[in-house]
Order: sequence, then structure tokens, then C-alpha cells
Amino acid sequence: MAFKINILLSLVLVFAVPLIVNVFIWNVGDAAGWSSQTPYDYTYWSMGISFLVGDDSLRFVYDSNTTNVLEVTSTNYMSCNTTSPLAAYNTGNDTIPITKEGYQYFISGNSVECNNGLKVGIWASNSSYVRFWRYDPAFGPDGYINVPDFD
Ligand SMILES: *[C@@H]1O[C@H](CO)[C@@H](O)[C@H](O)[C@H]1NC(C)=O
Ligand SMILES: *[C@@H]1O[C@H](CO)[C@@H](O)[C@H](O)[C@H]1NC(C)=O
Ligand SMILES: *[C@@H]1O[C@H](CO)[C@@H](O)[C@H](O)[C@H]1NC(C)=O
Repeated sequence: MAFKINILLSLVLVFAVPLIVNVFIWNVGDAAGWSSQTPYDYTYWSMGISFLVGDDSLRFVYDSNTTNVLEVTSTNYMSCNTTSPLAAYNTGNDTIPITKEGYQYFISGNSVECNNGLKVGIWASNSSYVRFWRYDPAFGPDGYINVPDFD
């Protein structure tokens, strides 16, 4: 009987613990923000993170007098083509929820800045495995805001 209860307890623990997941608002560029003033490797930044569809958001903080944020296609990301963005943001502090699995590309609408490296591509997963087991962020404490989510 005690043995059975132990097994039951173990099962409850194994299945209850992962229900508390980490939901993040990722500050793009960590403490550097969204700027080409000081060289920053946004590709390296994004490769260090497991982005999750539905749970995570990107936060772009920047000087809205000099730059903005455009979501573009992969082709226009490569060439810093700003003419027909999929979406445009310009408040200087934009929080963009990640709502689709796969790649998303963001560039500065200022093509000089884009060509100086102010562009980022992310890949987001919708996998429940990644959702429950992804590693803690490599960047912080400026890099993210952890929003506890009990679901
Ligand atoms: C942007 O320009 C406005 C008007 O010229 C100025 O008041 C403001 O301080 C500028 N913002 C930044 C972040 O430089
Ligand atoms: C920029 O993108 C638009 C729309 O995708 C395209 O029509 C245009 O030819 C592109 N411009 C350049 C210089 O590639
Ligand atoms: C950006 O906006 C969020 C939410 O509105 C706010 O909590 C945060 O302090 C702002 N960040 C900056 C740098 O203004």
C-alpha cells in the first residue's frame, strides 16, 4: 500500500512540476537595445534563445527619432529592403508577441542602420517538449523579463 502511494506521489510530482513554465519577454539586443551605435551581434543573440510561440514576446527599445522596427520577408531581410514590410512598429518601445512557428525577420527601417547590422532573425518553436524543458536564458538580467505562467 505504502509502495503504491509512493508511486502515485511520484507520478503527481513528475506531471505537476512542468506545469509551471517560463514565459519571457525578450529584450532584443539585451542591454544594448535596438541600435547600431555600438556594434552588436543580433544573430548571436537570437541563436542563444529558444523562442516559444504563444508564450514569448520580443521587446524592441530604441530611439524612435532615428530608427524603427519592420518585420520583413527573408529576402528583404538579406538585402535590407524596407519598401514593403509585413508590419511596422515605431513607438520606441514595442512588445511584439510571437504568434507563429518558424522564422521571423525584423530590420531597421533606416537602411543605413540595417546595413550596419541592425537586423535580427528569430526562429520560434511550438513544441511542448521545448516549452517544458528549454534551458534558462543565456542572457540577463537585462535580456529578459520572466513572466510566471501557471497553466
Ligand atoms: C526625439 O526628438 C524629439 C523632438 O526633436 C526630442 O524632444 C526627443 O528628446 C528625441 N528623443 C530622443 C530619444 O532623442
Ligand atoms: C524590395 O522589395 C519589393 C517588394 O518585395 C520589391 O518589389 C523591390 O523590387 C525590392 N527592391 C529591391 C531594390 O530589391
Ligand atoms: C517599455 O514598455 C514596458 C511596458 O509598457 C515598460 O514596462 C518598460 O519599462 C518600457 N521600457 C522602457 C525602456 O521604456
